[in-house]
Amino acid sequence: MAVRPRRRRARRALLILAVATALATVTALATSAVFAGGGTTPTRGPCDIYAAAGTPCVAAHSTTRALYAAYNGPLYQVRRASDGATTNISTLSAGGYANAAAQDSFCAGTYCTITEIYDQSGHGNNLTIGPAGGNGGADIGANAAALPVLADAHKVYGVYISPGMGYRDDHTSGLATGSQPQGAYMVTSGTNVNAGCCFDYGNAETNNDDNGNGHMDAVYFGTLCWFSPCAGPGPWVQADLENGLFSGGNGNNPNNKGNNSQFVTALVENNGTTTYAIKGGNADSGSLTTWYSGALPVASGYAPMHQEGAIILGVGGDNSNSSAGSFFEGVMTASYPTDATDNAVQANIVSVGYTNYTLPGNPFTIGSEISLRATTPCCTADYLTGDTSGDEVGITSVTSSSSPALKADATWIVEPGLVNSSCISFKSANGSGDYLRQFYSELYLEPQNGTAQFAPYATFCPRAGNSGSGYSFMPYNYGNEYIRHYNSVAYIASDGGSNAWDASSLWQDDTTWLVASPWG
Ligand code: AHR
Repeated sequence: MAVRPRRRRARRALLILAVATALATVTALATSAVFAGGGTTPTRGPCDIYAAAGTPCVAAHSTTRALYAAYNGPLYQVRRASDGATTNISTLSAGGYANAAAQDSFCAGTYCTITEIYDQSGHGNNLTIGPAGGNGGADIGANAAALPVLADAHKVYGVYISPGMGYRDDHTSGLATGSQPQGAYMVTSGTNVNAGCCFDYGNAETNNDDNGNGHMDAVYFGTLCWFSPCAGPGPWVQADLENGLFSGGNGNNPNNKGNNSQFVTALVENNGTTTYAIKGGNADSGSLTTWYSGALPVASGYAPMHQEGAIILGVGGDNSNSSAGSFFEGVMTASYPTDATDNAVQANIVSVGYTNYTLPGNPFTIGSEISLRATTPCCTADYLTGDTSGDEVGITSVTSSSSPALKADATWIVEPGLVNSSCISFKSANGSGDYLRQFYSELYLEPQNGTAQFAPYATFCPRAGNSGSGYSFMPYNYGNEYIRHYNSVAYIASDGGSNAWDASSLWQDDTTWLVASPWG
């Protein structure tokens, strides 16, 4: 009598163990079948998927993760402003995520730019800061700290492109040339975009100039509607085939509805002789939508294509460099991937779980009131202050016995960024309703005038403080500058730039602010 219940209990325990083991195996398989990125047993990255399908990557760039399960090496190089030294930021493990902590420690107390993005494909197609071209002066490197995000819960950095920034490789190997087929995708963001030409990733001219129709084959993402009308406000994934951003067909395509998700997968594929396809989707969920698949444009030069085999990132083929955009990863194939392969790659990207990074302590609650205290030793009793009697902004000493008007001038209401709600805008709490905005590098207090120009100039993205504590504020449309006080006047300043207020001396302290209780 006593034996049977024990046996039953034992059998039930065994059953539970077996089910648990089976579930764990299924979970592990589902994870390992998809991941190259820091799980314990990564087995596939996007380039493993393309290789298994017979369409291997010939270029694989990412500042966030390995794109092959076996890749365990440098992802990108950063250079710090303080002494010009460089270091490589590598994966944490084979198939894993970027070691962002290494960047944070190397760049602590100074400003770093991304100087090179390494090709993981073995073809040596590394991207470096782009040279001048037919339509744009030499590019500058992206601020390495401008785009922190989480990938599979790891803090990593994307590439935050603002006008003037870009990367290129004019001497590649393995890339499609002439009318050879090509596929390319990038993971980008629907919230950091503009209508400047041209936030591209892909194949371009080797002489940095516009060599005519069909000399480019790149994925474009942004709000530049080249062949009007476009469907809705965008941003759209389009094909930059040179002298045009094609939504599909001969340029115009009402089916290309755009995608403004926080993270976006953007693909362009081209068989080089007759057809091309434009696809995209939310990089965090769901599948890809094919917005176009059909004939190449009829205008002369596009069928067959005349690809040259350079690689660009963040600029147009002739180095047009007035675009903004975000780049997390991208690959190119010298062949035309199947839909099934692209879908498997999309599933792999979704499994990364790209999400916004929240600053520690995140004190920027929408609607809250804050004061911003300077941290430079000279000025720790000073606060960022907008003036009711004029429109200038600077730092001023504020104490408990200051006038109510001054206290109000030194108090800011945190609002969603006027142009991008993942950043913030500062409205003065002095009753004027005015916003903090930049104008020719100086900061002013001005009423929101509703123009398209005002919103980006009044939007700031909080980042970890440049001096290692507090916060720094990057203007939305200038990814290499921060709010700084200089001779008590407020500017946006780069470290070591050409203006007096860009001086390197005290730059870290002057651009770092502590969030204090509101004075007003
Ligand atoms: O095709 C759009 C742009 O036109 C290209 O990127 C650039 O080379 C040209 O100015």
